[in-house]
Amino acid sequence: MRPINRRRALQLGGLGLLSVAVGGTGLALGGGSRLDPEVGGEMAEPETLRSADGALQARLEAVAGPVRIAGREATAYGYNGGVPGPTLRLRPGDRLQIRLVNRLDAPTNLHVHGLHVSPEGNGDNIFVTVDPGESFDYDYRLPEDHPPGVFWYHPHHHGTVADQLFGGLYGAIVVEDPEELPVARERVLVVSDTSLDAAGRLRQPSTMERMMGREGELILVNGQVRPVLTARPGERERWRVVNACTSRYVRLRLDGQQLDLLGIDSGRYAEPRRVEEIVLATGNRADLLVTTAAGTSTLQALGVDRGGMGGMMGGSVSGDVGPLATLEVTGDEAAPAAPVPPSPRSRDLRGTEVTERRRLTFDMGMGGGMGGGMGPGGMTFTIDGREFDPDRIDQTVSVGTVEEWTITNTSPMDHPMHLHVWPMQIVAEGGRPVDDVRWQDVVNIPAGGEATVRVAFDDFSGRTVYHCHILDHEDNGMMGVIAAG
Ligand code: C2O
Ligand code: CU
Repeated sequence: MRPINRRRALQLGGLGLLSVAVGGTGLALGGGSRLDPEVGGEMAEPETLRSADGALQARLEAVAGPVRIAGREATAYGYNGGVPGPTLRLRPGDRLQIRLVNRLDAPTNLHVHGLHVSPEGNGDNIFVTVDPGESFDYDYRLPEDHPPGVFWYHPHHHGTVADQLFGGLYGAIVVEDPEELPVARERVLVVSDTSLDAAGRLRQPSTMERMMGREGELILVNGQVRPVLTARPGERERWRVVNACTSRYVRLRLDGQQLDLLGIDSGRYAEPRRVEEIVLATGNRADLLVTTAAGTSTLQALGVDRGGMGGMMGGSVSGDVGPLATLEVTGDEAAPAAPVPPSPRSRDLRGTEVTERRRLTFDMGMGGGMGGGMGPGGMTFTIDGREFDPDRIDQTVSVGTVEEWTITNTSPMDHPMHLHVWPMQIVAEGGRPVDDVRWQDVVNIPAGGEATVRVAFDDFSGRTVYHCHILDHEDNGMMGVIAAG
């Protein structure tokens, strides 16, 4: 069923020292010690909290304890007891107020991934710490011209981010289009992974898994294993797909159905793009139109080679997980949907004058990094040779400027780079100019490769971060601080 895990277990089993589990049961267990999930059942969506009259007030309680995952009672985490947490639906110009209550036994906080809002004060401020038993009132104001699209929220307290996402803390945010697209229905699909033992307890990752970026044995869509979606033939649906996995990349296919990609993250192509498959690094989202044809199709997650630890330590791949969900299309043919109106023209920074050019280098090394820290297995995860230090500013940018960043990866593993607050326009990959307009907030930097992005620091001052979205790498220091002023 999950050959890759088996293969990895065997491969990692031979690593001696490096594969020592840091807690829990480790990798060396047989299949019987894993949760036996409930498979199938109609796909459920998390509760939706929708703004009205320009405002949404919500309470998110991060709880540890019994939550429903894969149809079973798990001892994991959830916002308001659900995995995923509620979907927040907003409009440009809205004010979003969230009271975050920490009922975990570790500090946490909240990040609204991809939203273009202030990083200061009680905005999208990831330097806030909310201790167990405490709460914090976040207050976000979306600009009137905030891009529509699919975003998400998750904890961002340095050092516990991977554990808390793997445990179930994440939820989707949708910023509505000014005009709704003509679709029969919209769906939110939050893809995530975790590992639970037979009793439904979270399994702790091994040292090796934390170096590679842990991948869960259970891959979930809205907290379910292989849920079933139903539609009539000829319907157009809009799917908002979030890759909320801690480290896993997914390559999605839905053979037998027509897929038109509106864009990745909050980016929007000029025209929907017909695609056969979509690769989402951790943190990426797809805004997708599915036009249905009669029959049963399987949403599949195929493997993505995201590099490894180099020759001496074996490989790493986001393995094929096989079927994620089933789409059953039956019944009478639906009336043809109205044509999709063209997307508003995206900004293109390729012709813009650049004020500053920077080069950032993502690297991994064995021990003794300049930060003095020591990641799992003695491995260091650095940007420009340094590990994260919340008290150091690594990049200072001026509000009102456009910059070009060339991000190089000298390590043998891919790193998906995420910049908070400001989206990035990818202008070159591996030194080759990109010939279309592509805005994303997570950009994969391939092993040994590079990508060049442009960023318009039009508004918002304050301090925030950029980092690798393989959250084990982020927790181990692959993050830097940017200050805009
Ligand atoms: Cu989705 Cu800084 O994270
Ligand atoms: Cu990384």
